[in-house]
Amino acid sequence: MESQKTSSNSQFVIAPSILSADFACLGKEVQDVLVAGADWIHFDVMDNHYVPNLTIGPLVCEAIRPYATKDGALAVIDVHLMIEPVDRIVPDFAKAGANLISFHPEASPHVNRTLNLIRDQGCQAGLVFNPATPLDHLDHTLELIDLVLLMSVNPGFGGQSFIPSTLNKIAQVRARLDRYQAETGRHIRLEVDGGIKVDNIAEVAKAGADTFVAGSAIYGKENYAQVIDAMRAELGKSGKS
Ligand code: DX5
Ligand code: ZN
Repeated sequence: MESQKTSSNSQFVIAPSILSADFACLGKEVQDVLVAGADWIHFDVMDNHYVPNLTIGPLVCEAIRPYATKDGALAVIDVHLMIEPVDRIVPDFAKAGANLISFHPEASPHVNRTLNLIRDQGCQAGLVFNPATPLDHLDHTLELIDLVLLMSVNPGFGGQSFIPSTLNKIAQVRARLDRYQAETGRHIRLEVDGGIKVDNIAEVAKAGADTFVAGSAIYGKENYAQVIDAMRAELGKSGKS
């Protein structure tokens, strides 16, 4: 994907999860949410093995790719793999037009190999941490990752409540990523996923997140633009920007 221009390097990124979209008209749902002001498309892949639910794969990613554009550029398709094993399917997602691929480190026996595989396929790479997963896997991986994704619910379903202890974890990762950026000049995004709504997004930003996944909060409402505008207004009040 390196040669393809993708939209939005803006500080705050809103990434609607299509898990809560109407699957009978997914292309339109992707287009509509981007027109409504979203930055990325968050693509939740579940395998009924790593998590107790089954969703979508590379074929669907390929099908929505033409609809995921914004201001004439490609919008980032942010693939969140909740699957085990990971490696076999990575090239398929890269071919299907994924820009960023994140996985749960406990689902791969060779985390370094999987990160390199994602990058070799031309995608950006992310590591995902469940609410009770320690952050040890950041110790030897920062130079290979573009994004840290903190789960604020247990993965598997949309529409769950935000787990408040995530706020401390966000602050810990923020401090670590800031130190890393001061040392290397490289920015790694900090994304939070699960239970993000208009009324808690400012608090999540204040703790240090810069990228926000929201499924039911956006797709559960009639007017996507109204929710996204309200989220941006809250982000404006967070004191970060
Ligand atoms: C949960 C998924 C999330 C989920 C978010 O396993 O990774 O992306 O769809 O949905 P909401 O925003 O409804 O919690
Ligand atoms: Zn997700």
